[in-house]
Amino acid sequence: MPGYLPRITGREVENALGRRGAVLVEGVRGCGKTWLARHFARSEVRLDDNAALVLAAADPAAVLQGPTPRLLDEWQNAPHLWNQVRRECDDRPEPGQFILTGSAVPQDDLTRHSGTGRISRVLLRPMSLRETGASTGAVSLKKLFEGETVSGLFDEQPGLSNIASAVCVGGWPQNLRLSNKDAASSVSDSVTEIIRLDIPTGSGVRHDPVMVRRLMLSLALNVAAETKMSKLASDMDIGHPPSRKTVVAYLDALQRIHVAEDQPAWSVSLRSKATLHREAKRHFVDPSLAAALLRATPQRLLSDPTTFGALFESLAVRDLRIYSQPEQAAVFHYRDNTGLEADAVIERTDGRWIAAEIKLNTSPRSIDKAAKNLLRLHEKTTRRRASDLATLLVITPTGPAYRRPDGVQVAPITALGP
Ligand SMILES: Nc1ncnc2c1ncn2[C@@H]1O[C@H](COP(=O)(O)OP(=O)(O)OP(=O)(O)O)[C@@H](O)[C@H]1O
Ligand SMILES: [Mg+2]
Repeated sequence: MPGYLPRITGREVENALGRRGAVLVEGVRGCGKTWLARHFARSEVRLDDNAALVLAAADPAAVLQGPTPRLLDEWQNAPHLWNQVRRECDDRPEPGQFILTGSAVPQDDLTRHSGTGRISRVLLRPMSLRETGASTGAVSLKKLFEGETVSGLFDEQPGLSNIASAVCVGGWPQNLRLSNKDAASSVSDSVTEIIRLDIPTGSGVRHDPVMVRRLMLSLALNVAAETKMSKLASDMDIGHPPSRKTVVAYLDALQRIHVAEDQPAWSVSLRSKATLHREAKRHFVDPSLAAALLRATPQRLLSDPTTFGALFESLAVRDLRIYSQPEQAAVFHYRDNTGLEADAVIERTDGRWIAAEIKLNTSPRSIDKAAKNLLRLHEKTTRRRASDLATLLVITPTGPAYRRPDGVQVAPITALGP
């Protein structure tokens, strides 16, 4: 496909096609699902087309005929196809028959509880800096897990203003060729569409658009922070406070359409008596959504380090999540009752972990403090968990990658990759 930029999640789709009858690619509207699926498909049917829908209703088996893998794009417009796909997968001996994509997933219970063993799910997020070309990828998360030491000048576009632009533009593939200003306007349009269209069609929740926007604004104001439901509710209060049930339903809706994504607290055994905080940190799937809600521009971010710091952390968490996917790792955060924190803990299913602090401020004092925090966290974990540590990492916006005398590594986000 001309102009197609490779996606990190492509490897997961490829592996799943080799194992299972069908793959469901899910993710937020506009993150590149159709293009990713087309990259692997040998035929396709678009179920946003009326003729295809009529055929799908009259003869569901007929729309599944064609060279495989066959892409069923916007399959949620003909949800009964789900069961037809399951049946076809049972009847056909080869894996890799179908790829299903859609921006909204209706009948969520149906897709979550049926199809196991036949239909694999792959989550696609917007593009990371590595995928848009803003990171060289010289510092590989996989290699960090294997114990590699990093050292060098790897970022090709140093400068905080590039990072501020990356936050506002986001990882939306359709905006790649737009000017920064047009890309930011396009993200604002997406926020409006999420509220107007995606919440009701994607989640089935009957909603008050004003309240949803206020919830999203509250999430934007509290991005990369642990924010209790009660705080979100009080932010949404415009004369008549929403019930807890409403806040939970709207938040759940935003998560189901993959717009909001919590960063759970890490659960780890400690040698000390410190107790862990369990509250998740709030994020959007892409920091540009928060930036659009806050009406942030690169210039404004550069003069407001607090907001820029939170959005930079959210940008780094987005990328860490994407780079973690091939490692089957998940991204947590750490905080205990002594006030010790780590912005990200990336843990693989085999228990190996990396702890990271994400620092916009690269002064020696700021990096020192981050490194000390990470070393304290390492000391606090039980001997068994401490021995699973792969590395301690301070993530900066730009600058050199190196290993400090205390063993903590420093690397810019503009050099990170899978
Ligand atoms: N890998 C890619 N390389 C280059 N451009 C891409 C890539 N993926 C997507 N795009 C661009 O972004 C646009 C949107 O992508 P796509 O239609 O695949 O998103 P989607 O997730 O299917 O959106 P929707 O949720 O609206 O169905 C494409 O039309 C294309 O211009
Ligand atoms: Mg699509």
